[in-house]
Amino acid sequence: MNGKTLDWLAGPGARLQGAISVPGDKSVSHRAVMLGALAEGVSEVEGFLEGEDTRATEAILGRLGVRFEAPGDGLRRIHGVGLHGLRGADGPLDCGNAGTGMRLLAGLLAGQAFDSILVGDASLSRRPMGRVIEPLRRMGARIEAAEGGLPPLRIHASNGLQAIDYELPVASAQVKSAVLLAGLYARGETRVREPHPTRDYTERMLAAFGWPIRFSPGDARLEGGHRLCATRVVVPADFSSAAFFLVAASVVPGSDLLLRRVGMNPRRTGLLAALRAMGADITDTPAGEQGGEPVADLRVRHARLRGIAVPEALVPDMIDEFPVLFVAAALAEGETRVSGAAELRVKESDRIAAMAAALRTLGADIEEAPDGALIRGGRLRGGEVHSHGDHRIAMAMAVAAQRAEGAVRITDCANVATSFPGFAALATGVGFGLQEAAGLG
Ligand code: S3P
Repeated sequence: MNGKTLDWLAGPGARLQGAISVPGDKSVSHRAVMLGALAEGVSEVEGFLEGEDTRATEAILGRLGVRFEAPGDGLRRIHGVGLHGLRGADGPLDCGNAGTGMRLLAGLLAGQAFDSILVGDASLSRRPMGRVIEPLRRMGARIEAAEGGLPPLRIHASNGLQAIDYELPVASAQVKSAVLLAGLYARGETRVREPHPTRDYTERMLAAFGWPIRFSPGDARLEGGHRLCATRVVVPADFSSAAFFLVAASVVPGSDLLLRRVGMNPRRTGLLAALRAMGADITDTPAGEQGGEPVADLRVRHARLRGIAVPEALVPDMIDEFPVLFVAAALAEGETRVSGAAELRVKESDRIAAMAAALRTLGADIEEAPDGALIRGGRLRGGEVHSHGDHRIAMAMAVAAQRAEGAVRITDCANVATSFPGFAALATGVGFGLQEAAGLG
């Protein structure tokens, strides 16, 4: 992504100690700039994730005519143009590595009076877009993808959208959000029902921007033709970024780490339940609300972990946390079974295959299944592993390396900046063994 590759030389680490704050939530940051752009008036965002994914979304909205000011780190003033104020851009709009950016923007752009082309990097160009194209076409959108429903997406000027009542075939907050954002421009009531409730940030944020919306877990409805009013959004710290430290401090003996004011939306904290079932020692002290989301201080101390069968009902609530859960499982006593998680195969990489290969290189006993894995805990050794350019694989393997019996080289780690800029500095500050090195690739 940056033109040159970056490797990490990781582990072993000292016990992890200290008190840290992880950056703002990626999902909330994407939605904040999108709704701020479409609102009437000037919105303010605090705690915006200064990551490549969310900045790519901001840059796209900038090209569509929205003015952003960045008065400080994580701060944005967004000069909203109103629901019908965007204007078409010349040339393709680059979503970078961000599936959330591309899928939500597809919904938002489906209702515009101009054509758009959405493109992404090599990883995003392999990710399925049929799941958003299908419901958007049913609403009357004219969208074309490359063969197999892959990016780039060509979205034609809208002839008017019609509301639909849509039952999601996969539990996906991105698909739900794309349909709801298109619903802002549709005639009638758009309804989305989910097989299992997913993160509800789009619904909550639409309400915060003054759009009438009714929602309960697994069901959301709104009508087109209202207005979004500028507001102030405070972005909570990203639970998915905190997750790497929750596992690291659990597995490294002697650790005692505090993670301050982490977003605790129940649709995001499945890993906490899974780790506790494995015997982790994590206390959460509520620390009020941030941007309408509960936040808590999480204190995590080293504990002996035992393998579990991860309940399938937890999968959507921890969908981004499986790479690091696999690491916890590889270092736990006994077997951990993951099932019902086939979605992992279409994330920034095939996360089941990528983690199985990386952990096996370090000596772990892991069997892949189409929708999960069976992991028998044990010891890890050093070696060279590949992140496949996937930020969460890179960070998960950096955690694994803290307990490996030799040094671990993790290749192609530059994409960590998509979701967690500053991870390496924060991690070494609390005791991680981690150095950056020029990649050979
Ligand atoms: C996201 C939803 C999830 C998640 C992704 C962010 C969102 O994807 O994996 O990191 O912001 O809506 P799916 O909805 O496709 O599962």
